[in-house]
Amino acid sequence: MYRPLSIKPLPTLFGLAGGLVLILGILATASIAEKKGDRVYTFNDEDELLQPLYWDIPSNWREWVYVGTPLTPNELNNGKASFPEFHSVYIHPDHFKVWKRTGAFPDGTIMVKEMTSVGSKQAVSGSGYFMGEYLGLEATIKDSKRFKDEPGFWAYFSWTREGKPRAKTTKAEPAGKCNICHQSFAKDDWVFTQYYPVLRAAKPGR
Ligand code: HEC
Repeated sequence: MYRPLSIKPLPTLFGLAGGLVLILGILATASIAEKKGDRVYTFNDEDELLQPLYWDIPSNWREWVYVGTPLTPNELNNGKASFPEFHSVYIHPDHFKVWKRTGAFPDGTIMVKEMTSVGSKQAVSGSGYFMGEYLGLEATIKDSKRFKDEPGFWAYFSWTREGKPRAKTTKAEPAGKCNICHQSFAKDDWVFTQYYPVLRAAKPGR
């Protein structure tokens, strides 16, 4: 009896090819992870921190865990706040998980602070401060290997240039410019958790 050619080998072939692609993908990711250790961020050869959008595995901080928005409007700061005006702060989800479990920031923690102007002071909901344009982008990293000489192992970065978040890469700021204030006034391990309700609510034992 005539039997049509089985078409089974075709899906099997696709299955094999798919498997191969998967294995290659895993190997590639593993080799990046190996190169970076357990660090999520990327530095270039000049020791400059890349904006997360330009990392080996690009990452958008607006998809991280949002922790709070301190606001220092210019009009309450003699017309020019030192950090303009809304500060939206995010933590990488890997490090938020550890914070939730232990109440501590693990080695390799990165947080980003994105600054936005006050755009309008009037809305249908009433008078207030409403977000305008992006003005700046900063980050802090805790890394006991790369920043073993920094107080608390924290280093501070700013991608802000001429009032815009435009630098793709940036060097660590001098400790005297950023670190000292954090060291003296932040509640938990150089981080201003006293202004981040999300981190306070997630801290174990509360
Ligand atoms: C006068 C004190 C002071 C100095 C100096 C300072 N900061 Fe901060 N920083 C704060 C405060 C207060 C907060 C939390 C509330 C806010 O954003 O206003 C904060 C929050 C941050 C955060 C969010 C994560 C965290 O640690 O809470 C980053 C990132 C940051 N600052 C970066 C910098 C950088 C970069 C510099 C140096 C250019 C700097 N800071 C200098 C007071 C300071």
